[in-house]
Amino acid sequence: MLTTSLTDKLGIEHPIIQAGMGSDCGTTLAAAVSNAGGLGTIGSIGRSPEELEQELARMKEQTARPWAVNIVSFDWAPFAATLLDVAIAARPPAVTLSFGDTVPSIEKCRAAGLWTAVQVQDFASARAVLAAHPDVLIVQGNEAGGHTGHRGTLSFAAQVIDIAGDVPVVVAGGVANGRGLAAVLAMGGAGVVMGTRFKATAEFGGPGSAHIDAQRAAIVQNDGDRTVWDEIADLALGIEWPGGVLGRVLANRFTDAWLGRGDSLRDEVSKQEHPFAWTSTHNSEPETVLNWAGESSGLIHEVLPAAEVVQRTVAEAEQLLRNVARVVR
Ligand SMILES: Cc1cc2nc3c(=O)[nH]c(=O)nc-3n(C[C@H](O)[C@H](O)[C@H](O)COP(=O)(O)O)c2cc1C
Repeated sequence: MLTTSLTDKLGIEHPIIQAGMGSDCGTTLAAAVSNAGGLGTIGSIGRSPEELEQELARMKEQTARPWAVNIVSFDWAPFAATLLDVAIAARPPAVTLSFGDTVPSIEKCRAAGLWTAVQVQDFASARAVLAAHPDVLIVQGNEAGGHTGHRGTLSFAAQVIDIAGDVPVVVAGGVANGRGLAAVLAMGGAGVVMGTRFKATAEFGGPGSAHIDAQRAAIVQNDGDRTVWDEIADLALGIEWPGGVLGRVLANRFTDAWLGRGDSLRDEVSKQEHPFAWTSTHNSEPETVLNWAGESSGLIHEVLPAAEVVQRTVAEAEQLLRNVARVVR
């Protein structure tokens, strides 16, 4: 059993948060993680407010344990403010916030009596968010899958733990097994967020999606060396994220073709009639899909049920931490 300030505060059994990962990350995955003792999270970006409302209602039927909803909180993210209002109205046990200025959203959630776990990408944001008293601070390092900043996980996490006082610091980016969890707890962190590892589970994306199966298979095959952190993923979608945040995807024919040619990609995408038209063509092919995933792909050797990911990660970390205790004489 690993007991930390995170497990105490949120009333969860294990110090593991499953990242909210957009609209492919719904009740099936989040309930499996929460029922296994972690904190499952419903993704919201990519959903309409109505879809999110329905997903949150389903979640309440599928677990009696704590869970969260993730809100991507920069102003011009699709439906950002409305999705937050829908989330608050559903009264989830916790809200995870990331990207842009999260402080107004922290205040809104606190006024509604909800826990906030806020993900930051650089030290200045960590300081600003700590001043707004989140319940949990998530430090996200650059090796993460999806959107992330430029700071590497290890030094960034250590630096923030030094200033966080009694706010539990949770570490995201590059953690996919018990080694990462043990390392974080040993350095004074309170738990981990895992995204890429939970993308490569049976429950991500719902049943029977060949499209998602191909992405999971690519994560399993990737040795961690072949990822790309660059503007091209967002250029393909015709969007831009704030504050030096870029997307990390697995390298494939899409990244081979466009890396270093951002201006040409921007031109090509701007010729499309509808937003997302360019990617909806390319996303149907495993070799050209934007496969959001991080360097921790190199630690993932099979697709597993989400509950098994939680159990294996905790068991491995417990064993490693017992061994680590023997290092000290
Ligand atoms: C497929 C995928 C989608 C993601 N989508 C979101 C998102 O919608 N909101 C968010 O706050 N973070 C998102 N992230 C980032 C995660 O919150 C988390 O920081 C990251 O997955 C941690 O690194 P890891 O992938 O090495 O575990 C996403 C990550 C992945 C892999």
